[in-house]
Amino acid sequence: MSLRKIYYSLPASLRFIVRRIVFLPQDIWSSVFGNKELMPPKGLIFTGSGNFIELGNKLVNSLKVHCKLQPNHAVLDIGSGIGRVAIPLTKYLNKEGKYDGFDVIKTGIDWCQKHISPNHPNFQFRYIPLKNDLYRESGNDAADFVFPYENDSFDCVILTSVFTHMLPEEVENYLGEIQRVLKKGGKCFVTFFILNKDAKEFISKNNHFNFPFNKGHYALMDEKVKGANVAFEESYLEEVFSNKKLKIHAKHFGYWAGREKINSVDFQDVIILEK
Ligand SMILES: C[S@@+](CC[C@H](N)C(=O)[O-])C[C@H]1O[C@@H](n2cnc3c(N)ncnc32)[C@H](O)[C@@H]1O
Repeated sequence: MSLRKIYYSLPASLRFIVRRIVFLPQDIWSSVFGNKELMPPKGLIFTGSGNFIELGNKLVNSLKVHCKLQPNHAVLDIGSGIGRVAIPLTKYLNKEGKYDGFDVIKTGIDWCQKHISPNHPNFQFRYIPLKNDLYRESGNDAADFVFPYENDSFDCVILTSVFTHMLPEEVENYLGEIQRVLKKGGKCFVTFFILNKDAKEFISKNNHFNFPFNKGHYALMDEKVKGANVAFEESYLEEVFSNKKLKIHAKHFGYWAGREKINSVDFQDVIILEK
């Protein structure tokens, strides 16, 4: 059984505790001797591996390059986690700019409200208790969720590694809401695992990152924990974007399936949508 399978087999609440305990010695050491750069303790970072600061900086840079993000823009970060994008954005957005983030995990939102908002009142975070079987055992249905923001209020919406953990009806609802809250001409930077002919060929040669449970227009990595990782057929996504009146401004395939890393924007596939 792979480490990933073992990890997914644990109940969501237990995964958080295991992480906290494993990293506790390192977190105590860093709190005493580490540099004082704003960053959550490693044991609280439930949003994935890799260098938290470097990846956050890279994502903000991608927003500048691919979405033409400006310092005075209004940004919505859906599935804002524990501030990986918000922290570097505090150094880029100015006082006319603003940031809103929401997430289904309270620990991440609490940490951001405590450590980011007091010094940056234009950065706001909301906890929304929606169900997602990878992250929490109960909650409301994301397929019916109406975002708590006005129509036409954001220049840029970002979702990094969020739709890769959500099911089709939820993604469809969110894309409709994104269209509603984006300003005309606003951009959405969103990552997916996209299934098309090339990706399937790559996957057939790669047995460590694949989606064996085929559900037609999407596929799952783990059938017991559906939100563990979800991939979507490219033709299905294109149809949904068109139904939701979002144009594809650009598409950059990632290297998750086995494509060359050097030409990729991200590990996951990135789509830039435009209202
Ligand atoms: C892999 S993490 C990525 C977090 C963050 N976007 C980042 O890049 O650091 C996925 C995030 O999506 C959140 N999430 C899962 N389901 C969600 C939903 N229905 N709405 C909003 N966020 C959700 C999780 O709680 C988690 O913080």
